[in-house]
Order: sequence, then C-alpha cells, then structure tokens
Amino acid sequence: MKRILNRETIKYIEKKVTVAGWVSSIRSHGKIVFLDLRDRTGILQIVGKTDLLKEVNPEWVVEITGTISNRPENMTNDKIETGKIELAVESIKVLSQAETLPFAIDNDGLAISEEKRMKYRYLDLRRERASNNIKERYKLIKYIRDYLDKEEFIEIETPMLTKSTPEGARDFVVPSRTQKGKFYALPQSPQQYKQLLQIAGFEKYFQIARCLRDEDPRGDRQPEHTQLDIEMSFIDQKDVMGLIETLYIDIIKKLYPHKKIQKTPFPVLDYSEVMKEHKTDRPDLRKDKKDDNLLAFTWVVNFPFFSAKGGSASGGENRKWTFTHNPFSAPKEEYLEDLLKQKNIKDILTTQYDLVLNGSEVGGGSIRSHHAEILESVFNIIGYEKEEIEKNFSHMLRAFKYGVPPHGGIAMGLDRFLAIILNEKSIREVIAFAKTGDGRDLMMDSPAEISKEQLKELGIKF
Ligand code: AMO
Repeated sequence: MKRILNRETIKYIEKKVTVAGWVSSIRSHGKIVFLDLRDRTGILQIVGKTDLLKEVNPEWVVEITGTISNRPENMTNDKIETGKIELAVESIKVLSQAETLPFAIDNDGLAISEEKRMKYRYLDLRRERASNNIKERYKLIKYIRDYLDKEEFIEIETPMLTKSTPEGARDFVVPSRTQKGKFYALPQSPQQYKQLLQIAGFEKYFQIARCLRDEDPRGDRQPEHTQLDIEMSFIDQKDVMGLIETLYIDIIKKLYPHKKIQKTPFPVLDYSEVMKEHKTDRPDLRKDKKDDNLLAFTWVVNFPFFSAKGGSASGGENRKWTFTHNPFSAPKEEYLEDLLKQKNIKDILTTQYDLVLNGSEVGGGSIRSHHAEILESVFNIIGYEKEEIEKNFSHMLRAFKYGVPPHGGIAMGLDRFLAIILNEKSIREVIAFAKTGDGRDLMMDSPAEISKEQLKELGIKF
C-alpha cells in the first residue's frame, strides 16, 4: 500500500497522497461532506462531494486518495497536528464496513458500563483515553528497560510453568498431560528463579515479569499483573532502595514533568510508627489530596518478619507463625541470633522495604538470606515439617550449598504505578485486556469449559 500516515500529510501540501484509516465522524454541509479520518497518528480532515462520500459510515475502514491543501483561514483547528490542512477526495475505497458500535468512543467512556467496555475492549481501545493509556504503558516500560540496560542489568525470562511456591497467595495450577496427576503452577513472581540467577552469577537481573495469583481481584489487584522485577548481588538495602528511588524520580522528571513529587529523598518510615499514626502500612501522605498531580512517595521499613497465625500469609492449620512478606528474606542483622535460636519470634524484624505512593503499595523487596541454615530456621518457625521443606524447597537448599553471593531485590507493581500516574481509578484502565472483579475475561469469555477429549488426555474427571 502506498499509504502515508495522517501525521505526514502536512509535508504534502498541493500533492496527491493516499491515506487509510477509520471514519471517525461525518458532517454533511449541503453538497459537501466533511469526514474525519483516524489512524494511529491522529485525525485528518477529508472533504468531498456528497456523491463520493455519501455511502460511507462511521468506523468503516477506508483508503482515500486525494490532494492536500491548506484550509481557509477561518476553518483551521489548532488542537490537532493536521488542523491547517485537509484532503480533497478523488477516490475512496472501502476496505471494510462496520456495524453501529455498541457505545460511543468519542468521549472518555467512564460513564459507560465497564462490563460492556470490556466485552468490546478492542472498540473501547479506539477511544483516545484508553489508547493513550496503553501507549503510556509502552513508553514507561521502554524507559525502564533502557535505563536498566545502561546500568548494566540484563533482562532474563523465567518460566511460566513452574512449581507452587509459598508466596502468600493461591496458585493458578496447570495439569500436566505427560505426567498425569501432576501440576505446574503459574508463577506468583519470579522470586526463587531470580535468586537462583544470583547463584548463577548474573549479579544484576531484571525482568518485566507477568505474575499470576489466584486472589479476588479489586480495583488495584488483578489475577495477572506486571512487575518490574529486580535482583542484585553484593549490595545492601540502601543500594536497592537508592536504585529504585533514583529510577522513579528520573521517570517522573522525563516522562511526566507535570507531576510534582512532594518530598525527595523519599521519607523512610518505620512500620511500627506508621501503624501507630496511620493505622495502615501504606499511608497516603499527600498534603493536598485534591491535587491530581501530587505524588507522595514513602518507604516503609522495619516490618516484623513473622505474624501470629491468622495473619495474611499461607500455612497449615496448627501453625503458630507465618511470614509477613517473604520466607526468603534475611532478618535484620541484630535479630539473626534470635532467628537461628528461634526465640523472641514476634520481635524479629526483616530487611523488607515497601514503597508506597499516594496510599498504594507500588513495590516491595528485601535482602535475602544467603545461608541455608537461616532459611531452614525460617521454615522451622513457620512450622514446616522436614518432608515438606524437602518437597517444596530442596532446590533452594541444594543451590545454597554451592557459593551464594549476598543478594537482594525488589519488585515494583507497574500497573498500580501507571494507574496513579494517569489518574485512573482502576488498574484495569492501564491493562490492554484486563479481567473483571470476579476474574473473567468478558471478551474471550474465559475461564471456559474444555472438551471431554482434553479432560481425558489430562486424566481429569469431575
Ligand atoms: P509483592 O507480592 O509485594 O512482592 O509484589 C510486588 C508488587 O507488585 C504489585 N502487586 C500487584 N499489582 C496488581 N495486582 C496484584 N494482584 C498484585 N500483587 C502485587 C504491588 C506489589 O508491591 N517477589 C516479591 C518481590 C521481592 O521481594 O523482590 C513480590 O512479588 O505493587
């Protein structure tokens, strides 16, 4: 196709060009018809005689050939890049027709039921707000990749088919056909793999990683979310927090200069004090909550390592303790002895650090234990039996025998960060194809039943 983009037409005044896209709107003025043609680069005004354009309807896909000329002075529009020109139609080819859309797409769409928008998400994504959110997401991820590349990190993919890990949420499981009766688990995060990559000697790992957790979704929680996942060797807590703080300040300066960070360096608050003062470990510290462009970051540190059972993490029935964040975390140095002796358990603090933004947890990580005995002590405290440890963690304990660098890392929730930056109420608005509050994809109609043959192959009976 010799088609040029709408954006490029301004360079072709008095020249004949071919453009292609969707008919965004049509206005009839007697014998003349004006039509807005939309492509990925914007809108171009098309003008032509009724007889040429009368057959066309909104959202049809067309290819139009004609000559570009300047619009009369009083007809220009400075809001769009092509606002000073228009294309006079010579010929039009209909590439595909469209039925009337189930909803309007020339507004922000927030008044339309979300269920309907999600069912026709490919149409919803034609609207400017939705389409921009997805473009912003790409820009953010590209910026992060380039930044970390310059810092000598390398991105490494880790498996999607893995093994159940005790990270606090329920796993999504996948039945194995070749090993009947056995299951893979989809990763809640690349936690163990990224630690194993430190043992492998990569030292600076990152991944834009998809993480899957079988939790009840909410405005800021999806069954699939994306993390900027990082792990580094020969570093301490300050190095990881420093890297993220510098990166996030840089991102905001370069990509979102209209945003204002309330305070730098980010405040670092103590868990027990935050809880006392705000009754939550993710306080919204904004001085002016009406300001859409104010960003109040804060670190929260000094979390207790364990909480009495009935807390948030997983574990068996008769257990007294569970970990608050991550069993692989190291305790703060001054509590190491207590942890190894398994005493004063409720007072042991972990090296965990969370990053909170405007009342939302946008990241968290820790320095990890790099000695098997510490890990074993953690498992003992949370009451795992010997066989259970062997079954679930033998790969980690084995790897810990072969030279483990001190290491630590963090994972940043990118969906949440972007939703806050773009002033969206739900992370669904910054995900191309998100799931509903009850975990369904209304467009694909999933989850769905599978055929009897598929079930039989997998050895599954209901
Ligand atoms: P954690 O479980 O705290 O840590 O996750 C890191 C960050 O990911 C985001 N997040 C989510 N976003 C949307 N939907 C969800 N269901 C969801 N769950 C988490 C949050 C959170 O702060 N492996 C550790 C990290 C580490 O220790 O390095 C981990 O996954 O913004």
